[in-house]
Amino acid sequence: MCGIVGYIGSQEASPILLEGLKRLEYRGYDSAGLALLNHQLSIYKQKGKVSELESILPNGYSAGKTLGIGHTRWATHGEPNDVNAHPHTNTKGDIALIHNGIIENYNAIRTELARKGHVFKGQTDTEVLVHLIEEIWNEVGCDFETAVRLSLKEVEGTYGICAISSREPDKIIAARNGSPLLIGVGDGEYFIGSDASPIVSHTRKVVYLSDGEMAVLTRDGYTVKTIDNIEMPKQIDELAFGISEIEKGGFDHFMLKEIFEQPEAILNSMRGRAVFAEGAVKLGGILQHLSQLREAKRIIICACGTSWHSALVGEYLIEELAKIPVEVEYASEFRYRNPIIHKDDVVIVISQSGETADTLAAAREAKSRGALVLGICNVVGSTIARETDCGIYTHAGPEIGVASTKAFTAQVTVLALLAVALGRSRTLSHAEAKFFIDELRLIPEKVEQTLALNPDLVKLAEIFKDAKNFLYLGRGYNFPVALEGALKLKEISYIHAEGYPAAEMKHGPIALIDQNMPVVFIAIKDQSYPKVISNIEEVRSRKGRVIAIATEGDDEIQKLAEFVIRVPNTIGPLTPLLTVVPLQLLAYHIAVMRECNVDQPRNLAKSVTVE
Ligand code: AGP
Repeated sequence: MCGIVGYIGSQEASPILLEGLKRLEYRGYDSAGLALLNHQLSIYKQKGKVSELESILPNGYSAGKTLGIGHTRWATHGEPNDVNAHPHTNTKGDIALIHNGIIENYNAIRTELARKGHVFKGQTDTEVLVHLIEEIWNEVGCDFETAVRLSLKEVEGTYGICAISSREPDKIIAARNGSPLLIGVGDGEYFIGSDASPIVSHTRKVVYLSDGEMAVLTRDGYTVKTIDNIEMPKQIDELAFGISEIEKGGFDHFMLKEIFEQPEAILNSMRGRAVFAEGAVKLGGILQHLSQLREAKRIIICACGTSWHSALVGEYLIEELAKIPVEVEYASEFRYRNPIIHKDDVVIVISQSGETADTLAAAREAKSRGALVLGICNVVGSTIARETDCGIYTHAGPEIGVASTKAFTAQVTVLALLAVALGRSRTLSHAEAKFFIDELRLIPEKVEQTLALNPDLVKLAEIFKDAKNFLYLGRGYNFPVALEGALKLKEISYIHAEGYPAAEMKHGPIALIDQNMPVVFIAIKDQSYPKVISNIEEVRSRKGRVIAIATEGDDEIQKLAEFVIRVPNTIGPLTPLLTVVPLQLLAYHIAVMRECNVDQPRNLAKSVTVE
């Protein structure tokens, strides 16, 4: 949830750290701070965004300092203010620490340290850790690395940390347990990052740390050990994307860029997997488990937020194509519900970031109960991706905007491929599979056509930007899209919105309908169309303002809906890939017109790595 960056080499550290923190701000931006080291430690930290930190940096502050760490915070313990900003230092001020995660036993540690005379400036759990390191370092008389290692063995909870000290001013110590960290391997210089975004403009060679591992970086290289001091040989991976993919690419916001990247993201999700000539699907990441997947008596899909919405689409897809019963669970509920899991159950976890704490915990819970766990993630090398038994990367490319867009359509694409692969291993005929993936092949172009409707959504946003509430209604495959449309609107424009199955409106929400209530209907030409038309009539008769997402060529709906957005026709199971696009654009334009911070909405972070 916070952003961590570190540098050790021959360049001045601060410009590298500040640039890196700006790329990490989507992970949290309550406060930002730096610790720079030559022979002494210099700390600069400030409530607010990185630009506000930059405004307090004195002239010449960074000269000659080629080692440093930086942090951008999303508050979990202690309100966002200067004192609680990271880095935190010990009593003597010769150790600096930055942290991402939650130390669950920090109160007990703090009480014990206070009894020993430690004085704490703030209310964070992180500050406790830096004092613990100082205490153990002094008590044991060991070296810095050992002091950090022994301290972490006393910690319960999650962490991704970097620590530096003027007592040993030639190294950065990093460690992870539950919060992501990776090393960037440069030429005589090394980097640390919560993800690749602060590193990729300097090097594409990275080493992913795993939980329970600690790294020591010096100008001569790095070592990785477990916190039980066991050497861990690590392979160097090559990053697949460059900095240009991370930049906004000419769009005003990352979110808009990512909405327009969806044709490519969907294509990349299919690339090498949908074998169109054969009407087959090949998913290398699950091949060795296909027989167990085929025999599954039940599939449980766990996820959060937008990923939970794509999971709902996945439920319809897998049940229709593979005839395997599917249940969809909020990961946060599943992990604490003492779930009943049978040995022939399969659990799928879906997560764009691959770091969502609840989803990771659900995966671990399922594994501990003997289920086969399949991960559908976007971030390569993410914790969930590396902890599940098998998986399928969505290959949507980096998603920087906090509001998930291309991740959703890429997840639905992967779920469609999975449904076909499972179906073909069971009762789905070759002809049915070929028909399905031939339709899927046309989707990227149809999304391009739908994106061309962008000006219509600008006009619609202009009309409804001051609405106080919205209702989104859909049926079947488009019920999850109604939920997703509502989430997009509320999380970036702060307008209250709710998604419902269209038929549910009669069971309460219809009481809300009046001339001030915009109701978005997903009313594509499928078997539920006549029912949706009836629902539209019900809303009209109560003066609700009807916005319809309809199918190209549908002229009937014009008589009923005040506004109609028509998307290209496709088969029912694939309609979510098209109907979601105008809802993403509507939410985006309304948020921009309301001058909201579209890429970094208030109170939100891109990856919720704490409970
Ligand atoms: C969606 O726009 C939100 N950013 C949020 O609901 C997100 O989908 C959720 O936190 C899950 O994230 P994940 O896919 O990275 O696990």
